[in-house]
Amino acid sequence: MISTLPITLRPHRTLLVIGGCGYIGSHMVKCLLDAGHRVVVLDDLSGGYRDALLGGELVVGDFGERTVLEALFEGRRFDGVLHFASLIQVGESVRDPALYYRSNMAKVLTLLEAMRDHQVPALVFSSSAAVYGEPHYVPIDESHPCTPINPYGMTKHVVETMLRDFAVAYGLRAVALRYFNAAGADPLGRLGERHQPETHLIPLAMQAALGTRPALQVFGRDYDTPDGTCIRDYVHVDDLADAHLLALEYLWSAGPSTSFNLGNGAGFSVQQVIDTVAAVSGVPVPVEEGARRAGDPARLVADAARARQVLGWTPRYGDLETIVRHAWRWEQLRPDARAATRRYGNEQAT
Ligand code: UFG
Repeated sequence: MISTLPITLRPHRTLLVIGGCGYIGSHMVKCLLDAGHRVVVLDDLSGGYRDALLGGELVVGDFGERTVLEALFEGRRFDGVLHFASLIQVGESVRDPALYYRSNMAKVLTLLEAMRDHQVPALVFSSSAAVYGEPHYVPIDESHPCTPINPYGMTKHVVETMLRDFAVAYGLRAVALRYFNAAGADPLGRLGERHQPETHLIPLAMQAALGTRPALQVFGRDYDTPDGTCIRDYVHVDDLADAHLLALEYLWSAGPSTSFNLGNGAGFSVQQVIDTVAAVSGVPVPVEEGARRAGDPARLVADAARARQVLGWTPRYGDLETIVRHAWRWEQLRPDARAATRRYGNEQAT
């Protein structure tokens, strides 16, 4: 007998993903395609990779050029924009603030103006825990003061302020998602982290285990934490993508502009990450003791209760071992690693 139960279909939407060839953006594209949406990616390929796209349409171009945006917005109607194309190195932002204010702020203003002029209804913006600066308390909730201590964090903070002002003045609604430490990879190993240069702890520890770099430098063991190393809140990249989709649905249901923290609320020290990488890979991680890295707070842990309550976000991969397991699979499968020469011992890892 044929079922007569009503089938509820979510309307398919068309999204513009800026920076969709990068680490988090490529996982977002996967998530949108899995949800049945149509995806157009705008990426200048300065930090992203063509082969990181599992589908959708790629437009190669600079989102900061108004002519590029006009060509996109005039040609079709977008239900929303997700913005990932950002420079992310705190140290580099201190050495070259102009670069960061241009890329992460001035270009975003051009995007917001174009969205306003074409009445694109929703924006999800990648913000960062760096907006808070030195934590006054942990876990950090969204009402913690925003006093960034470097140009990177300041660019995110200023864009969040622009988003609030654009919402009031022009009705452009946006959600800013403040990521804590994005980590992990597609569980099937198709996508993952490929920064050039890599500065993040988990990929660097895995590369030291694999022997594609000599050792991991531990940036300080004299912090006021149980083992003396810094504590961070690692959140799986697929869980971040889920939160973006929920943020879009929130905006499409007329939710007002706001910001949400995204983290698991659990802190892991650098040493715990090293131990987990060693356990997952079965290989010890060679380490060197280094000095503190400027601007590293001892402890950054999210209170993400608002995202859970308001968006209904439930992270699927909350435990560090799963995050590292997925990252490890990617690190072994990634196209450039397959060709890499393992020059530094630990050959048993291969
Ligand atoms: N670390 C090392 N050795 C390394 C790399 C990192 O010991 O080679 C340590 C860092 O000192 C830190 C921890 O590992 O204590 C995590 O460092 P990451 O560089 O992986 O991440 P961060 O916490 O510095 O940065 C993240 C985001 C940034 C964002 C910041 C917010 O990647 O984009 O959180 O504070 F700005």
